[in-house]
Amino acid sequence: MPPAHLRQRVLSGDRPTGRLHLGHLVGSLRNRVALQSQHDTILLIADLHVLATKPDGGVRTHLAANVHGIVLDYLVSGIDPAHTSIVLQSAVPEVCELKTLFEHLVTVNRLARIPTLKQMARDAHLDEQAMPFGLLGYPVLQAADILLARAQLVPVGRDNVAHVEVTREIARRFNNLYGEVFPEPEPVLSEVPALVGTDGKGKMSKSAGNAIFLCDDAPAVAAKVRGMYTDPKRIHADIPGTVEGNPVFIYLDLFDDDRAEVADLTARYRAGRVGDGEVKERLTRTLDRFLDPIRSRMAAAAAMPQVVDEILWNGTQRMRRIAVETMQAVREAVGLPQLRPPSVPEVH
Ligand code: TRP
Repeated sequence: MPPAHLRQRVLSGDRPTGRLHLGHLVGSLRNRVALQSQHDTILLIADLHVLATKPDGGVRTHLAANVHGIVLDYLVSGIDPAHTSIVLQSAVPEVCELKTLFEHLVTVNRLARIPTLKQMARDAHLDEQAMPFGLLGYPVLQAADILLARAQLVPVGRDNVAHVEVTREIARRFNNLYGEVFPEPEPVLSEVPALVGTDGKGKMSKSAGNAIFLCDDAPAVAAKVRGMYTDPKRIHADIPGTVEGNPVFIYLDLFDDDRAEVADLTARYRAGRVGDGEVKERLTRTLDRFLDPIRSRMAAAAAMPQVVDEILWNGTQRMRRIAVETMQAVREAVGLPQLRPPSVPEVH
């Protein structure tokens, strides 16, 4: 851990829409695990953000379970609650208070131009004329998450860089108008490109149905690998195959420690000297070997649900203390009047 004056505050978050998968692990979780040993890290479970695209009943029944599941996924991937505060966003009401103040510092036009919001609206099958106020405000809520913690570093995926840009603009605007309260946070991008899904088409995601989850058991992984996309030219094992962009080889490269074996398999695939079946069997074994320790940690943690509750409670309490401090500075800077209790008349 670097000395305190070099340590920065890191804030990152996920929407609890489902369990985490290998794409999260490679793209964001590993990055966060590396950061937590260097910095003061906060990991926010952004349940309010889920409502921006899913205000419906389906969420009501799944939200609590998804929050619990995501904490488990964090713990088994190496997020250490001793270094990272895991926070439930909706349990920190100051987030919404700050968002309200920020709403005056950004224009509707600025938000309407953000491509990710249009994409989210399309993905949620919303008509262009039916953009919810809350979805337009999604990046403003995110700015409140980040700035309430006065975070300096924000690990995000490429699709979220535009939101951190809005956060920076809001911080600048606030500081200019009211005085210096907020740092201008920097996005931190993972160096690893997004992991392709089992279908070889787009990036791995729950909604595309092309994900291998950290909580998938061995039979589920075997079935998913069997159905994986490979080189479609190879109707026979003796046709030379392409490994570039082939998800089976991308996963082997990432998760198989036996470099020599992978190199040999790659060469044989290119030469048309190995069947897809054999390659996939190897990948299934590789993924099981990789996931087995994760599975045992998951079983141990799932057996003690109170541990998850405690971690979320402690992380959220810590964030609440930070929130009170930030809001005090914010209220003072903005000039919001302080409500004082009426003085009690003295009795003689
Ligand atoms: N917008 C992020 C996502 O796409 C989730 C998120 C909410 C977030 N608040 C955040 C990420 C603050 C980083 C910082 O899922």
